[in-house]
Amino acid sequence: MSDKQVAIVTGGSRGIGRAISLELANSGRRVAIVYKSNKEKAFGTLKEIENLGGEGDIFQADVTKWKDIEEVVKGVLTKWGRIDILINNAGITRDKLLLKMDEEDWDEVLDTDLKGAFICTRLIARHMIKNKDGRIVNIASVIGEIGNIGQSNYSAAKAGLIGFTKACARELSRWNITVNAVAPGYIDTEMTRVLDEDVKKEYLSRIPLGRFGKAEEVAKLVLFLVSEDASYITGQVINIDGGLVM
Ligand code: NAI
Repeated sequence: MSDKQVAIVTGGSRGIGRAISLELANSGRRVAIVYKSNKEKAFGTLKEIENLGGEGDIFQADVTKWKDIEEVVKGVLTKWGRIDILINNAGITRDKLLLKMDEEDWDEVLDTDLKGAFICTRLIARHMIKNKDGRIVNIASVIGEIGNIGQSNYSAAKAGLIGFTKACARELSRWNITVNAVAPGYIDTEMTRVLDEDVKKEYLSRIPLGRFGKAEEVAKLVLFLVSEDASYITGQVINIDGGLVM
């Protein structure tokens, strides 16, 4: 077995997931980029990794589908023989006011942002248990802590993800697996670029550091949490939000 660590990053081809994939590859890990549909984008991120001298591969999968994730696990183990790190990053928003939100909006967000993390963790943790070592980082959101108008589905999913993180941290600690959540505030990605200018202005006025965050800043925090230096940190939710929530 190679001594290089292997990381799986869901939604790893763009935004925060892309930045995490690049950081992990840059630090010498092999990175499995899990993407849902945009192969070109995933391939582009892989090319960036390779241009920087890193190693990775792309795996098409929908995190809400058990079969898909089983195939990813099989593929990664066949290729590299181990899984050390899981980053549950895939997420979506379907914003609507409560009285306009239909069941589909609710289910889609809960399935992707919460159940997706459960499926991936459920299928991947067993390989970490065998190795008696592992790092899991869930990308939650400050919205899971404070709620937000028009985001009852997303707030519930991310709050659920925080609870899930703590339960998993307790359960998996005896195998030396740490499980933490990162809760970003407003980060400039495709997810947030679509918001109205007025909404953005309003957010900005509430951020003490006076600017939106960068995907790379979130990636650096994730890199720390998977490192040896973070070996005694588990079950935590670490906000990265320019001081929005304190
Ligand atoms: P993004 O929309 O650029 O990236 C999300 C990624 O998840 C995409 O690559 C998408 O294809 C993937 N994805 C969605 N559904 C999937 C599925 N069923 N299976 C596999 N992949 C799937 O958004 P961004 O901003 O990079 O978000 C990444 C994570 O960070 C999400 O969990 C999001 O909720 C969280 N977050 C983002 C914040 C922001 O301000 N951008 C703030 C707080 C949290």
